[in-house]
Amino acid sequence: MNDTADPPSQDFATTLSALLTTPSFGEPLHFFPSIDSTNIYAARLAREGASTGTAVIADEQTGGKGRLGRSWVSPPGVNLYLSLLLRPAVSTAVVPQLSLLAAVAVAEAIIEVCQLTPAIKWPNDVLIAGKKVCGILAEMQTEGTTLRAVILGIGVNINAPLSAFPPELHDKASSLLLAGGKTVDRAAFAAALLTHLEKLYVLWIEQGFPALRSAWEHHASGLLGKKISVAAPEGTVSGIVLGLDIDGALLLHEEQTGAQRRVLAGDVTVVGGYAHGEQS
Ligand code: BTN
Repeated sequence: MNDTADPPSQDFATTLSALLTTPSFGEPLHFFPSIDSTNIYAARLAREGASTGTAVIADEQTGGKGRLGRSWVSPPGVNLYLSLLLRPAVSTAVVPQLSLLAAVAVAEAIIEVCQLTPAIKWPNDVLIAGKKVCGILAEMQTEGTTLRAVILGIGVNINAPLSAFPPELHDKASSLLLAGGKTVDRAAFAAALLTHLEKLYVLWIEQGFPALRSAWEHHASGLLGKKISVAAPEGTVSGIVLGLDIDGALLLHEEQTGAQRRVLAGDVTVVGGYAHGEQS
């Protein structure tokens, strides 16, 4: 972290390349001053045969993609827009675990670089003081039932001022600058993030999701025991959060039935707020 203005975008790319010590993540690194979406470009690279660890970073996105068909606000020169190409030899069913993994990596990078206290909201939003600072969008390429590639897209609001967000997001979105009061070195943050991502990815490949579960639960500890409602594909589910199952599913004590319920996908709302006021 520093108190100076963030360097121009090409310096961001050059500094990041110099800082990277990861064995594979960020190699090669494709950097764009402006692009429609780093996920779209990474998907193209994946179709052309690019290998695990290939990263695409942009200084600005003109068509940043969010979850559930939403857009991702991507102003120039202030944030991190990263897409990482992965080719794990796993079934498509476990791919959502990569989003949970990425949320843990983002939380650990925030703690390391900014000394702030992030909170993960299932499945993979990262919040500070109840406002979202990071979103994750994992997209798959398959051939029949075989997984070919995963594009792990990560957007972190780093030095965005409040004015960078549309008014309707002012009570929902934040940045590391707004949360901590200091400009954050984007290259240092990106290098730390890629380091945490690769460390956790190797652990996941070697030992599976159970090796990551306690870290995810640690960063989401504010959620444990809370009453939530989940807009899941099968309908709204309400209950008390018990934790994560060994495969990354959210475990709830369902109020209506008194039964334990596994939730595999959906948007969470925390009843009564999350981490000083959950907003999203
Ligand atoms: C969400 O809706 O919470 C997910 C947002 C994901 C945004 C990132 S920014 C880098 C990558 N490129 C995109 O177009 N989207 C992801």
